[in-house]
Amino acid sequence: MAVLGIESSAHTLGIGIIDGDRFLSNKRIMFPITNNGIIPSELAEFHSKNAANALKSALDESSLSMRDISAIGYTKGPGLGPALNVGAISAKALALRYKIPIYSINHALAHLEIVRHINNFDDPLFLYVSGGNSQILGFNEKKDKYHIYGETFDIGIGNMLDNFARAAKLIHAWGSSVATLAENGSYIQMPYTVKGMDFTFTGLLTHAVKMLDNPTINKSDIAYSLQETAFSMLCEATERALMLTKKKELGICGGVAQSVRLKAMLKCIADEHKIKFGFVENQFNADNGAMIALVAQKMLSNGVISNINDCNINQRFRIDTARVYK
Ligand code: FE2
Repeated sequence: MAVLGIESSAHTLGIGIIDGDRFLSNKRIMFPITNNGIIPSELAEFHSKNAANALKSALDESSLSMRDISAIGYTKGPGLGPALNVGAISAKALALRYKIPIYSINHALAHLEIVRHINNFDDPLFLYVSGGNSQILGFNEKKDKYHIYGETFDIGIGNMLDNFARAAKLIHAWGSSVATLAENGSYIQMPYTVKGMDFTFTGLLTHAVKMLDNPTINKSDIAYSLQETAFSMLCEATERALMLTKKKELGICGGVAQSVRLKAMLKCIADEHKIKFGFVENQFNADNGAMIALVAQKMLSNGVISNINDCNINQRFRIDTARVYK
């Protein structure tokens, strides 16, 4: 029972195909981001132009045709409206053409569920870190939903790192460029803001960007200190949530989960408290269609009734309102 997933909430158009525990394909095409950021209408045009080719290459890689697909999932939100619409319309057209069930999926939930699935986790605490999100979550059995224990009060950590990369005029304005610049850096004290299990990043970002104007301070030292401070804030809040919830598994997910340094810091915490730590390979951390297909497959196998008339988009679709099917 192969299930196809379409992800189009932000810069990546992803199409993935899953069959049971087998990930048959996970194609991703990324909008070329310049230092001007993303213009939503241009992003939607990019996704529209590439949708047919992405679908064909995903089917080719899995050696399947659309007639072998039992259900389809697409990202309902959160995300950029014009980009989400491309995925929703494509999915609805396919569902009607091939008369298969269609499921609308919460993007954040899919990031968590693929880590839970691949690591065979039972009841983990998650640190979800991406461009737009930074949250600490755990499953609430009474509600069948994820509960947010802590989150950023302003911007996501990925957004913060991208902004710093732009201000530092790095060639690629994203977190891995900051990580490269941070290599061999030395620590300079920076603003550190954690309130219980919540945190903020804009004060830290403003401070680091201002330091870039000082020619006597090494850029590598600023990048290193920014990264260490931001990651330490996330780790402190995550460790506090672990102590509160007494969960025995810790997972990291989202685009910033690609950071080697952040994973190493979290593993230290997990080892100290004898907690199982898990993550996934980078193709599943970045935005991708396979994670959408996985959640759609869970809905299909739980007998969820598909209703194409409810398949709209919601740019502000919060994870703690999305039902989880195990
Ligand atoms: Fe994402």
